[in-house]
Amino acid sequence: MAKPPLGIFGAGWVGVVTGACFADLGHQVVVRDVVPEKVEALRSGMVPFHEPGLAELVERNQERLTFTLDLEELKADAKIFFSCVDTPPLPSGEANLNPVWSVVEDLGSMDGATLVMKSTVPVGTGERIRAELPDRVGYVSNPEFLSEGRGIEDFMRPDRVVVGSFDDEHGDRIAALYAGFDTPLVRTSVASAEMIKLASNAFLATRISFINEIANVSEAVGADIDEVARGMGLDKRIGTSYLRPGVGYGGSCYPKDVPFLKLLAGSSGYHFQLLTAVMEVNELQKRRVVGKLKKHLGDLPGKTVALLGLAFKPNTNDMREAPSIVLAARLRAEGAEVRAWDPLVTGHPELDGVVIAPSLLDSLRDADAAVIVTEWPELEGLASAEVREVMRRPLIVDGRNLLDPKAVRAAGFDYEGIGRAQ
Ligand SMILES: NC(=O)c1ccc[n+]([C@@H]2O[C@H](COP(=O)([O-])OP(=O)(O)OC[C@H]3O[C@@H](n4cnc5c(N)ncnc54)[C@H](O)[C@@H]3O)[C@@H](O)[C@H]2O)c1
Repeated sequence: MAKPPLGIFGAGWVGVVTGACFADLGHQVVVRDVVPEKVEALRSGMVPFHEPGLAELVERNQERLTFTLDLEELKADAKIFFSCVDTPPLPSGEANLNPVWSVVEDLGSMDGATLVMKSTVPVGTGERIRAELPDRVGYVSNPEFLSEGRGIEDFMRPDRVVVGSFDDEHGDRIAALYAGFDTPLVRTSVASAEMIKLASNAFLATRISFINEIANVSEAVGADIDEVARGMGLDKRIGTSYLRPGVGYGGSCYPKDVPFLKLLAGSSGYHFQLLTAVMEVNELQKRRVVGKLKKHLGDLPGKTVALLGLAFKPNTNDMREAPSIVLAARLRAEGAEVRAWDPLVTGHPELDGVVIAPSLLDSLRDADAAVIVTEWPELEGLASAEVREVMRRPLIVDGRNLLDPKAVRAAGFDYEGIGRAQ
């Protein structure tokens, strides 16, 4: 049976992954963005951000995948339209829904169309949009759970697909798109689907802040977080994922979605106390590295610190809310000279005053300390004789517990991890 053609608003991480994956599954897909350079790049086969395998997938499906600025081209054949536009935070912490509202306006009154919300929105947004949509346009919430760096795999083999609808007709239509997926399909109301997305992200952020606090206490009382996390994670009720301490979460999702949920609760009359702590812990965690550096180096003026890894996680060049930004600013405020290295990020406006080195070794030359901020595989061999040779002082602060402390110390470095026994 012919697969229905699809229209996608937004050529960012979610939009291009969604478009390329559905094209690969046999749909004709038109992806529309409002940024001409993005559309031009995609048309010439270049994906303007780093996502493993995506350029190849776009290339392989070029006959079924079109990128455009033109609204009419987007609307020419499709009846199903995905909103994959951004929903960035406002200064208040609430979601800026202007891009979503512009999608509603752009869609207009297309007879028999379904608007599918993949953008992450506060609970109640679907209800508000439905009130504005003409009767003949349906609305479905189909939140996206992909993780940058493994977006294609997550899209094609998700843990579940959530379809929240106001009526069966439009819900069935969207559920049918996922009929070939070997995964549970969760049919819900629109409000529940919206809440599933926010609650999932808030829960994962909570696990991260929780294990970071356990790591901090372990450090103070002589326990070792690697042993603690393993012993906890083997309990099936707990599980092993998201039990790795570090310098705090970043990225385009948790830092905005946790406040979205907290503010949403607040405006509904409920004080979500736990999430306040989750956010506070995360902010403090980014700064703990400074204390570890001072423990070894004393005051930081005149000291050079190499930040290794800038992106908020490996396999992406996404710098949105990356902990490296806060850490670099904190170190500079303390008077340190900050150098940095990242295999994909070669500059960023929020890294003012940070010298980005052309190679890992260059970033470490005459440095008083190396701080692992992102667990890039390239850093696994950091504790080498060559590195020890070029550093002024062989100190490694491992903000991701990437290295084996014993091996690092045996190689002649001082070592500080997060929550690891001395
Ligand atoms: N990035 C992720 O890992 C991820 C995962 C799950 C969910 N989400 C959610 O998905 C949404 C999109 O995230 P993203 O990371 O892909 O964002 P992004 O910023 O990378 O991409 C959004 C794109 O939408 C475009 N856009 C804005 N208004 C438009 C309009 N009216 N018509 C067409 N295009 C328009 C922007 O120019 C931009 O290219 C957000 O709500 C985010 O919270 C993101």
